[in-house]
Amino acid sequence: MNQQGTPRGMVRAVDTTGTVEGYMPGFGNDFETEALPGALPQGMNSPQKCNYGLYGEQLSGTAFTAPSHQNERTWCYRIRPSVKHTHRFEKIELPYWKSAPNVLPDVISLGQYRWDPVARTDAALTWLTGMRTMTTAGDVNTQVGMASHIYLVTESMVDDYFFSADSEILIVPQEGRLRFCTELGIIDLEPKEIAIIPRGLVYRVELIEGPARGFVCENYGQKFELPGRGPIGANCMANRRDFKTPVAAFEDREVPSTVTVKWCGQFHRTRIGHSPLDVVAWHGNYAPVKYDLRTYCPVGAILFDHPDPSIFTVLTAPSGVPGTANIDFVLFRERWMVAENTFRPPWYHKNIMSELMGNIYGQYDAKPQGFVPGGMSLHNMMLPHGPDRNAFEGASNADLKPEKLDNTMSFMFETRFPQHLTEFAAKEAPLQDDYIDCWLGLEKKFDGTPGVK
Ligand SMILES: [Fe+2]
Repeated sequence: MNQQGTPRGMVRAVDTTGTVEGYMPGFGNDFETEALPGALPQGMNSPQKCNYGLYGEQLSGTAFTAPSHQNERTWCYRIRPSVKHTHRFEKIELPYWKSAPNVLPDVISLGQYRWDPVARTDAALTWLTGMRTMTTAGDVNTQVGMASHIYLVTESMVDDYFFSADSEILIVPQEGRLRFCTELGIIDLEPKEIAIIPRGLVYRVELIEGPARGFVCENYGQKFELPGRGPIGANCMANRRDFKTPVAAFEDREVPSTVTVKWCGQFHRTRIGHSPLDVVAWHGNYAPVKYDLRTYCPVGAILFDHPDPSIFTVLTAPSGVPGTANIDFVLFRERWMVAENTFRPPWYHKNIMSELMGNIYGQYDAKPQGFVPGGMSLHNMMLPHGPDRNAFEGASNADLKPEKLDNTMSFMFETRFPQHLTEFAAKEAPLQDDYIDCWLGLEKKFDGTPGVK
């Protein structure tokens, strides 16, 4: 029996031998899993009576009529149907968790911004009360755009459950370890891994090792998928087998419980008398997943020049305009730099897309100082950015031998929509007032005469 709450060894997905207990490999597979033998109907979805007295129920993550290659749904066989997992709702306030549109008259989002890490705290904060929205983009009501958040978690949710009808949630831990007990199974998550919780899936977040801090991208739009590799071929970048979806696990616990629902940017609470994590068996392709960022195989320039950062895309959430993402999740990890006669760091740049970065660990090559683990930066739509003076001078004068960028892991949430700062990001979070001064020292070298300066 694989019931939730059973301790089990931590999963180390970068182990180079063996498969990973408790998880099934693949991205978007049609999985099937049962926590009790014979619980999953075979050959049909809706038998007249299900084994063990379970109720059959479908969770639709896409419209019924979505194209076959995008259609996602999961069949659940559960102790009670979901209609028993909510009752009357009351609205509640989670004042730090904002949704788009959240455009504030006294906040200037136009600019280049950088933040130090949001400080750890001894205050009691759960996954819900510890969520701090930094930016919002698009409109949650029309299911376009995103929000970026920092989470600070010091406490487990106890008999308290959550789902977001607004969004799928991409989690990027930076410190501490969390356990996501979901309707479809358990994901243990630690820094250097990411997880995706689908829209509508009920879960509870427990603190395994704290305090926990990390980044969240809330995707209001079409689901994340793997980017096409084009001429790169069938391998490298993020490989499907390295994504791990949990096996079925259920709770049969009758105790007063609450379920919080995020719906159209507002939070609602309902009270029930049992755990809603009661799915004994399931099959389908709409499921939570985790991925170890250390399995990301970067591909880059091997002779000269610096490719666009899209070469490091891990996941992309389409917007409906081909090639123009609602969100790209991009990873800057350890890699070799070998380009000849080349300015190797990221070039200076203005972009129709807006770029929000976070540092998971180490030092980022375009900014040797100031962008620290746990910190974030925002280079909004059409705002210039690029290496600071030290990075520019260092890279312009470096002896260009092969060099390993080591001890570095940063990421970017890049969206086609401008990102608006929340009041928290503008006034409460540790904003670096002098960030834009990092370009002050860049000198005019041009004097009208030819030659390398
Ligand atoms: Fe950029």
